[in-house]
Amino acid sequence: MQPRCAVNVCHVLMLVLCLSAGEDFDWTKSNHGSFYYGTFPTGFSWGAGGSAYQTEGAWDKDGKGLSIWDVFSHKKGKIQLNDTGDSSCEGYYKIKDDISLMKELRLNHYRFSISWPRIIPTGVKSDHVNEKGIQYYDELIDHLLENNITPIVTLYHWDLPQILQEKYGGWQNISMVNHFNEFANLCFEKFGDRVKHWITFNNPWSVAVEGYETGEHAPGLKLRGTGAYRAAHHIIKSHAKVWHTYDTQWRVKQKGLVGISLSGDWGEPVDISNQKDIEAAERYVQFYLGWFATPIFHGDYPQVMKDFVGRKSVQQGIGTSRLPAFSPQEKSYIKGTCDFLGIGHFTTRYITHRNDQSGRGSNSYFTDRDLAELVDPRWPDPGSEWLYSVPWGFRRLLNFVKTQYGNPMIYVTENGVSEKMMCTELCDEWRIQYYKDYINEMLKAIRDGVNVKGYTAWSLLDKFEWDEGYSERFGLYYVDFRNKNKPRYPKASVQFYKRIISSNGFPNQREVENWRRKSVEMCSSSNQLLAADPLTSHMEMVTEIVVPTVCTLSILISAVFLMFLLRRRN
Ligand code: NOJ
Repeated sequence: MQPRCAVNVCHVLMLVLCLSAGEDFDWTKSNHGSFYYGTFPTGFSWGAGGSAYQTEGAWDKDGKGLSIWDVFSHKKGKIQLNDTGDSSCEGYYKIKDDISLMKELRLNHYRFSISWPRIIPTGVKSDHVNEKGIQYYDELIDHLLENNITPIVTLYHWDLPQILQEKYGGWQNISMVNHFNEFANLCFEKFGDRVKHWITFNNPWSVAVEGYETGEHAPGLKLRGTGAYRAAHHIIKSHAKVWHTYDTQWRVKQKGLVGISLSGDWGEPVDISNQKDIEAAERYVQFYLGWFATPIFHGDYPQVMKDFVGRKSVQQGIGTSRLPAFSPQEKSYIKGTCDFLGIGHFTTRYITHRNDQSGRGSNSYFTDRDLAELVDPRWPDPGSEWLYSVPWGFRRLLNFVKTQYGNPMIYVTENGVSEKMMCTELCDEWRIQYYKDYINEMLKAIRDGVNVKGYTAWSLLDKFEWDEGYSERFGLYYVDFRNKNKPRYPKASVQFYKRIISSNGFPNQREVENWRRKSVEMCSSSNQLLAADPLTSHMEMVTEIVVPTVCTLSILISAVFLMFLLRRRN
């Protein structure tokens, strides 16, 4: 075994050489196995995240308006077990508690979103601005800053004001561009003195595809073959407008950055010697991440999307492509509207070419791509059925971003893994493994020359997981949703992530192995606390329901008895 310090010096040197050389990543090599011990660049920002509808609760408190998720989740049969985000983690009431969890982790940043209907209840700024909503975010931002935690703020994490959906059809309608811009402008005005990292949209792919094509997400529309493309078109225009608003009205004064957070699975060709598979895998990524990133960095949709959707539309007898087109003015307005790119990444697929039937009526975003997705049955999948742990795909995706979009500044805005609801196991060794391997692949990507400035573990807390309700837990902290107070308990991964943060990486094998051992040892005491929790909930039930009921009954019985005595005396 080599002496410890020799290993470190060697690795630091390698890191420096690789960073300065910035060599292109070799796509053909698939030596996925080896773990790289080393540290991240100085100043690398470590964080965790959540979003308004997933964590805040207080869905109808203090003047908040309805969002499409409030309405969607209240419809029977849309969400697992008909769960809603009505109270969720009660984050609205727990600013200080949650910031102390962030302090425990020694986070550099916290990513959260602003609920549009909480601060503009109807979605239209000229109607009414809700001061209590503004106060809540003011307080959150101030407390974060007092604790040296940088806020990274998302403006749209899927909770469109319901009225905008009802009146205009939501993202199907071009009028959203102005309404969203007014909302964003209000946020810059109210919070921009303190917030320097803005994300316009979180994962617009989901908004478009799951909201307007498959209908699994709010608003639940199934406008197959057109709905997703139209929603995406308006989202991209809205993003660009907000970036320009910041650029022209606020940048000089506030000196912040405006980006967008895109999600993308990596697509690996099933057969790397088959040209059709290679092209299909490229198409998969272009239809996912490229759909949004290419207009924002290069001014127009990926050529392959224009070709495929255009050709299929013609075959289907539709006069123009189902993929809308940008005018020349729009292209130059949209191009370059990104100060940093947020990347949300969780998993990978193997991709093979497949001709999809594209007759009339069968058109959809999915069939437009002419491909099939496969998974390796050996890939671990502890929680969400779509989420297989494939760490090497992360490095590949990050390198793809570097080469395709001119090596932009990247913040990883989401990465993490879930477990099933019934799993009350705080010793989450599988999550430790996931974080360890994915963060390591990100470190390798930085060595490849990818410009990653920060990483956001997803998520700080267990929370409302959209159509899956509370059945999937992504948190570093376990939330006991059965208990009205929604207590939080650290999982073992808290200890592990905390050590990565304080070492700014992975110092050496012995230490990293020790972290894992210690983290798992420590979690058994939290497990005991959680195991005792049904008792706590029971005690609360006793004080909040049983005691008042017994008291009321006793008073009633005494009154009846007294009346009886009085009657007898008369
Ligand atoms: C992406 C979404 O942005 C986030 O809200 C969600 O929790 C994760 N995917 C996991 O499903």
